[in-house]
Amino acid sequence: MPSTKRSHKEVSPAPSKGCPMHKGKDAMALENDEENTTKRSPSKRSKNSSSNPSDYRYGRVDGPVKCTWFPGTTEKSPHFHEKHDFGRKKIMNTVLENIGNTPLVRINRITKREGVKCEILAKCEFFNAGGSVKDRIGLRMIEDAEKSGKIKPGYTLIEPTSGNTGIGLALGAAIKGYRIIITLPEKMSAEKVNVLKALGAEIIRTPDSAAFDSPDSHIGVAKRLLDEIPNSVILDQYANPGNPLAHYDHTAEEILWSCDNKVDYLVCAAGTGGTLTGTARKIKERCPGVQIIAVDPIGSILAEPDSLNDYNRLKPYHVEGTGYDFIPTVLDREIADRWMKTGDRESFLMSRRLIREEGLLCGGSCGSAMSAAVRLAKELDLAADKRIVVMLPDSTRNYMTKFLSDDWMYEKEFVDENLKHRPQMKTWWSAQRVADLKLQTPMTITPTVTCQEAIAVLSREGFDELPVVSEDNEILGVVTEGNLSAKLVSGRVAPEDAITNVTYSQFKQVSMNTSLGELAHIFDRDHYALVITEQRCFSGKAKEMSTRTVVSGVVTRIDLLDYISDPPEGKTTNSPLFGPRNTYDSPSLAPTSHSVKESKKGN
Ligand SMILES: Cc1ncc(COP(=O)(O)O)c(C=O)c1O
Repeated sequence: MPSTKRSHKEVSPAPSKGCPMHKGKDAMALENDEENTTKRSPSKRSKNSSSNPSDYRYGRVDGPVKCTWFPGTTEKSPHFHEKHDFGRKKIMNTVLENIGNTPLVRINRITKREGVKCEILAKCEFFNAGGSVKDRIGLRMIEDAEKSGKIKPGYTLIEPTSGNTGIGLALGAAIKGYRIIITLPEKMSAEKVNVLKALGAEIIRTPDSAAFDSPDSHIGVAKRLLDEIPNSVILDQYANPGNPLAHYDHTAEEILWSCDNKVDYLVCAAGTGGTLTGTARKIKERCPGVQIIAVDPIGSILAEPDSLNDYNRLKPYHVEGTGYDFIPTVLDREIADRWMKTGDRESFLMSRRLIREEGLLCGGSCGSAMSAAVRLAKELDLAADKRIVVMLPDSTRNYMTKFLSDDWMYEKEFVDENLKHRPQMKTWWSAQRVADLKLQTPMTITPTVTCQEAIAVLSREGFDELPVVSEDNEILGVVTEGNLSAKLVSGRVAPEDAITNVTYSQFKQVSMNTSLGELAHIFDRDHYALVITEQRCFSGKAKEMSTRTVVSGVVTRIDLLDYISDPPEGKTTNSPLFGPRNTYDSPSLAPTSHSVKESKKGN
């Protein structure tokens, strides 16, 4: 029976079982302990190891694995283990006591509609105090660091994160009184950033396009800050044993307790892999027949075998928190019996179904895991006595302006029978296509151009934005007058810096086939969009056909206004929305400075 006392602070002596996570002197023995780097379990995980393991003082995020855990190990664990307690206090001393003990909820309507016979249970991590599964590791890593003396009052925590770990750490830091700095990629939602700020975290955004080992990435910037700020630490979710241990000691125990040790399949999406590794290892120990299904977004390279990652390898995707372009140290890829890849569309549509049909207010990666679980159940035709547990990592709160917004879903073309089409405008032009507009030949720049040179081009040509493309014409981002001016004026970049320092990797994209009605919706919020074409390219060297995205134009509000006000032969302008020719009575179609400059040029 569960007791009524929580026990996150209780520390039990290391059990006589083998090391579940990392080989080390204690729970915070991080990754620079060379003597441990070579000794491994019978598994083949040394594949992860870097050739240059220790190029900065807290270790590499893809560094060598020290963990010696393997199924059935009898080696004595070197870690502190927390005793799990299933009860709830009548009065909590702080909100940190409301981390863990999340509910396991049966999926009913989705399974019925999909003809799934087996039981699917959702582990609802969005009920944690900070809204995600990462609250568990935020608290665990802080408390492990306190116990080992790695941090003391007055210290600064720095963490490169996709947001949720930052929120978990910021929650801990707010209650315990540490300063915290979070570095996170631009792609991450404004909602996460605002929650972090509200919790008192200082935020530094980094370009999505920066590779994990570049100095501009969220990891590279965190390293630099660590060197600059005295008494600062990076708790480093990518290599910290406390990350998987939080799930080994608690998340898995909760699942096993709720399921009376009957789990046939565990489906879990991977980011750092902490949730997958920790939860799967404990469940495998107690339910040896369990099948572990790891989920990886298309575009990421975590899945095995690696050929699974070939489709759209390293291409951007919208689901947040899962997938990487490197293999994090704490991820044990071999713990998975099978990896499944998931796409953005299926993920977001499933997340919306989880909200609408099951009332589970969850985030985008929850849809990835649930979509994989439903596919698995159908593919294997799992019988009614089989049980799948699916991890739902975070809350809808993080995505209010993203997949929860119908407009966002329409723009990305993530539609199905529940979300068929945006209500259409009924104007003479709304069904016409972008291809009908008279667009100028695009002007692009390469990433080696400096800010100073880009400003000269913008002012000479009268543009407000310029696409940045690679040598082989692949689109990398957009430079806008606004961003250049904000960063130069605040001194965050110098005129001689490369344009990549001010390149936006997020921009609206349309195709030649996009309707002008859709385009007008985009112009409700954005003043330009890139017209993108897919180009197939055969490389003689690699003897391979690849698809790349190239820019065939930049479309602005003035292009649409020009079309509406000066229609082609035979088109009517008696529109109830736009009235007579040459008047602008829709706020969304008011010309921007770029448009004005262009229209002046035309006069
Ligand atoms: C939304 C979301 N889903 C899934 C994950 C993956 O969790 P893990 O890092 O434990 O693999 C994360 C991690 O940050 C996340 O933020």
